[in-house]
Amino acid sequence: MFQLTREVRFAVNDGPDKPADGPTNGFGGYPTIRGLGRYFELRVTLEGALDPQSGYLRNIREIDSVVRQRAIPLVRGQLESGRATGEAMVTRWADELADAWPGAKLARLELGLSPQFSVVAVLSELPMIQVSQMFEFSAAHRLHNPALSGDENLRLYGKCNNPHGHGHNYEIKVTMRGEPDENGLLIDTVRFERLVKQNVIDKFDHKHLNIEVNEFLNLIPTVENIAKVVYQLLRPAFAGEGVQLSSVTVWETPKTWCEYSE
Ligand code: NI
Repeated sequence: MFQLTREVRFAVNDGPDKPADGPTNGFGGYPTIRGLGRYFELRVTLEGALDPQSGYLRNIREIDSVVRQRAIPLVRGQLESGRATGEAMVTRWADELADAWPGAKLARLELGLSPQFSVVAVLSELPMIQVSQMFEFSAAHRLHNPALSGDENLRLYGKCNNPHGHGHNYEIKVTMRGEPDENGLLIDTVRFERLVKQNVIDKFDHKHLNIEVNEFLNLIPTVENIAKVVYQLLRPAFAGEGVQLSSVTVWETPKTWCEYSE
């Protein structure tokens, strides 16, 4: 199965845009951001077979033009309605764009509202949608299994077995899932942030995980185990707010990350 994703970048500015200008910076997006305009990224994922002549699942220009002609005007409508939420927007787009590319199936829409915050509609899961936010913490850890000898630990973990530990700037992505409430929200963003701060960030940030964080006193703080511990700390906290935690992804470095879900 092929899934093709195209990110369409655009701004919604105060006052009318000038479509006759045409795109002048495809990297920065179109309509071009002007003044204090709002910037959006919409990632469209289509599923389907390839056209034998072109080798394309879909010409990306067709994806761009549909988004620009049909999706962007809806943002304006949403902003003017006073019920503008990312959750409401992707739900509306999913409905509006479901048949926009005949022959290919719209599988997923992801609205990036900031580099750290995104809202996703997986079409097969509607009316459930997902909201993700990125967080960071800095911490020290040591990879060491006390059941093994010193030499075995060194062989297994190398430099990561350094007796005094070493540090990482961890990034974590927390994704929850549910149906938006009457205000078009899954959860108030500040409450979301507060839950993660209180249950994870305050506990882990600027700590030595092996020594100062109870969950790792008898658990090796690999990136895999950190993802699982974060998930298990957050799941009951989110459940208390009536929201389902979907997954937790932890980046130990830009090259290594682990996603955990149950
Ligand atoms: Ni490490």
